[in-house]
Parts: sequence; structure tokens; C-alpha cells
Amino acid sequence: MNAVKISNLCLGYGKKTVIKDFTIDIEKGQMVSIIGPNGSGKSTVLKSLAKLLEPQEGIVYIGKNNITHMSNKEVSTSVSILLQHNTYPADISARDLIYYGRLPHKKWYQTKDQEDEKIIDWVIKNTNLEELQYKKINCLSGGERQRVWLGVALAQQPKILLLDEPTTYLDISYQLELLELVKMLNQRSDMTVVMVLHDLNQASKYSNRVIVLKEGQIVADGDPKEILNKELIRKVYNVESRIYYDEVDGHPIIIPNKNNLGGERI
Ligand SMILES: Nc1ncnc2c1ncn2[C@@H]1O[C@H](COP(=O)(O)OP(=O)(O)OP(=O)(O)O)[C@@H](O)[C@H]1O
Ligand SMILES: [Mg+2]
Repeated sequence: MNAVKISNLCLGYGKKTVIKDFTIDIEKGQMVSIIGPNGSGKSTVLKSLAKLLEPQEGIVYIGKNNITHMSNKEVSTSVSILLQHNTYPADISARDLIYYGRLPHKKWYQTKDQEDEKIIDWVIKNTNLEELQYKKINCLSGGERQRVWLGVALAQQPKILLLDEPTTYLDISYQLELLELVKMLNQRSDMTVVMVLHDLNQASKYSNRVIVLKEGQIVADGDPKEILNKELIRKVYNVESRIYYDEVDGHPIIIPNKNNLGGERI
């Protein structure tokens, strides 16, 4: 069954339409990256999958359900999202914020129980926050905070995990750790992952499907080995590149050469 089905979706802000006639199916257990230039609509698409943005037209299905007819609580028991920009209550500890991820699963009268503690411990261990868990969020670095937000999303135990540029604030070691953790969860629990990445090589390595957006429209969609090539990189980013193929698993490695400054965008 599809984890997500999007048909003829138009999205935007006020009267402006950013995403036009967007139709895709995402199968359960896929690991999908959305790539594309700044402003191409990547975050906008992701927000609509978490019901943070209502469609102007078209339908988003989560499983069999039309997202518009689902309550926010229903959505957040299936879908969790790590946003590009987060606001947070300053005076809360990392551990307490991660507990917020449990709330969609609880009735209003239920308090934190042993099951929650077990899940929070697992999340803290896997996001490497053991030593930081009792620190206040506003005393953490940008990268540490990003790991806490990932922790909140994971504590939700979602069927569908949405990540908007999850590696942005992380050093290279934590970038790999995050992507490996997400890959492990995807493989072990069949969690569907849709992530926005700017690093084309990470998208190439860590996804079995890449959706390329330009100006709100899909310009390529498929296995990174099949779609990531010089022509596409030129067309989408106006950048000349060289492509090598990884000796172990054959994923394309993109080396950007030169920005065609002043050139027409094709
Ligand atoms: N809250 C908003 N109100 C009005 N316009 C918005 C809003 N958020 C985004 N936009 C506009 O919608 C378009 C797509 O934005 P979006 O954030 O989806 O792009 P993106 O592909 O995620 O870009 P980036 O790589 O910079 O994160 C842009 O033109 C942006 O200016
Ligand atoms: Mg964005």
C-alpha cells in the first residue's frame, strides 16, 4: 500500500501558487529525497504532508485517509516532521522536549509512563544526547538542538518521517550518523522517509528515490542511479559537473565544476 498518495496538488500562500499540479505516490518503506534549488517548493511540499499547509487544490492521502479530513492528532500519530526552522520554549530540557513527541499517542488524562520513559531513553541514546539530556534547550549549540528536534520526531514513532534539511547544522560526523540512523529505522521498521536534502551526494547515497523540483514542478523522479546526471544538474542548478560512480554500491557522486554565472537558466 502507498504510505502517501498526492494527486493534482496545488499549494501556495495566500493567492500565490508555489506548487502546481503535483502528483506522486510514495510506497511504504521508501526512502525518498526531494532536491532542488532554493525556493523551488521543497519545504512547501513537506509541510503539506504533515497538514501544516492546506492544499489550494488536490488531495494528500496518508495511507487511505484524506489528510484534510484527519484531525491534527491523527496526523501526528502517523507522521512526524523535522522542520527547517523550529521555535522552542527556551526554558525546557532536551529530555522534556523529546517527551512532547509522545503526546500525540496519549489521551489527555494520561501522564508519562514507563513505556514513554523507555522510548525516550532509546531516542536519547540513538541521537547521542545522553550527556545533554538535562540541559536547557537554549544552552545547546545549533547542531545539538537539531539532534533534540530529531529526537522529538523519533519519539513520535511515526510511520512516515519527514525531514527538512536535517543535516544543516550538523558537523560531518553527525550528518552521517543521522542519515545512518534514519536508514536503519527505515530498514528495520519499514518507516517511510521523505527528506529534503541540499547535498546531492547524500541524496544519492541515502535514498532509493529522488524527486527533483524546479519552480514548483517535478523535473525528474526516480532511482538516483538513473536520474542524477550532468544534464539534470545543468538544467536544474545551472552548474557544470562531473559524475563518478561509487565502487561499492554504484550510486552517482557529483562533483560540481563551475557555475554558469550569467548563463540563461534552461
Ligand atoms: N510562509 C510563506 N509565505 C509566503 N510565501 C512563502 C512562505 N513560505 C515560502 N514561501 C514562498 O514559497 C516558495 C517556495 O518556498 P519553499 O520554502 O517551499 O522553498 P524551498 O525549496 O524549501 O527552498 P529552500 O531550499 O530555500 O529551503 C518561495 O518562493 C517562498 O518565497
Ligand atoms: Mg526549504
